[in-house]
Amino acid sequence: MLPTETADIQPPPLNLEARANLRDFNSFGLPAVARTLVRLRSDADVRRVLDHPELGLAPKFILGGGSNVVFTRDLEAVVLKVEIMGRRLVDEDAQAWVVEAGAGEPWHGFVAWCLQQGWPGLENLALIPGSVGATPVQNIGAYGVELQDRFHSLDTVDLVTGRGVTLGSQACRFDYRDSVFKHELAGKSVITRVRFRLPKVWKPVLGYLDLERKMAETGQHQPDAHTVFNWVCAIRAAKLPDPAVVGNAGSFFKNPVVTEEQCRDIIGRDPEIVHYPMPDGSVKLAAGWLIDACGWKGKSVGRAGVYEKQALVLVNRGGASGAEVVTLARAIQESVYGRFGIRLEPEPIIM
Ligand code: EPU
Repeated sequence: MLPTETADIQPPPLNLEARANLRDFNSFGLPAVARTLVRLRSDADVRRVLDHPELGLAPKFILGGGSNVVFTRDLEAVVLKVEIMGRRLVDEDAQAWVVEAGAGEPWHGFVAWCLQQGWPGLENLALIPGSVGATPVQNIGAYGVELQDRFHSLDTVDLVTGRGVTLGSQACRFDYRDSVFKHELAGKSVITRVRFRLPKVWKPVLGYLDLERKMAETGQHQPDAHTVFNWVCAIRAAKLPDPAVVGNAGSFFKNPVVTEEQCRDIIGRDPEIVHYPMPDGSVKLAAGWLIDACGWKGKSVGRAGVYEKQALVLVNRGGASGAEVVTLARAIQESVYGRFGIRLEPEPIIM
């Protein structure tokens, strides 16, 4: 006899952990304990958390790859660790491939996998630490490409209603290291899957100074996507610390944007300042240069320090607390403000 449709197939129990140590779940390697940690393996898991008699109403904190957070204390909120996996081609037309990844997939592995499949376009974003689900939150960018340039859509589950919602580019309101997920939707919806549109006519993006240098060094002026991927990995490895070895969260501050007038004033005093004119007339300043100019490179406050090769990156020199990182960050902000009158804004979320 065939099994009846009512055959009881129970979903696996929610993966819950009490008093979970978060040190291994943040790229800074900062100590913090979560009262409750839930590993989300599917959209259905999010709904089961919401239906749970105790967890349902409790405040929640969404954790991706932990590469954009500074823990300064233990967390009373229920930590939702997104571990939704899977990578696949979901659509294809004459112009582009649409590729999807679960929010829990490690970002760099996804970039490398797309290239292996013959779908280039993400290579400038290679080696950025973190998970796929975190990439739209801060609209990651590097070497002339931002996530929004390759974005198709993403799926979320609303943390109040439990409803699945798909958002396109406009609804995500991408901006420089910014999106709706840092504002109205902060903590309100879990990103479960992200889709990318990768054009079939591939054009390398090589306008960035470090890549121009690679072209000059190697004499390769028409590199393929694998070569660009390798160059980006080499450039990053040479000046950014590997979080598996030295705890860090990438750039700690955003590059500040000032008016043309403010910039002229600063250049008058510091002609060397690294700056990039923006299409709207404003000017972006290299925060790393500002911090470096204040003498911070290689310096430490307690066990938190400024990376020797890139002043924009703060590092855990071993056993640092989140409070030490924040103390260092404040001291840097004060000295940059004192010398240049510019307020630096941190990139990671400080908890
Ligand atoms: N600079 C210094 N001293 C320093 C660091 C930088 O003088 O200690 C100067 C450099 O010489 C260069 C300029 O500042 O002329 C800019 O430095 P870099 O090219 O390293 O880029 P960035 O502006 O510091 C941004 C992103 C990085 C991204 C790179 C490459 C932000 C906040 N950071 O850094 O993103 O990899 O451009 O595109 O926009 C991240 O967000 O975590 C990140 C690593």
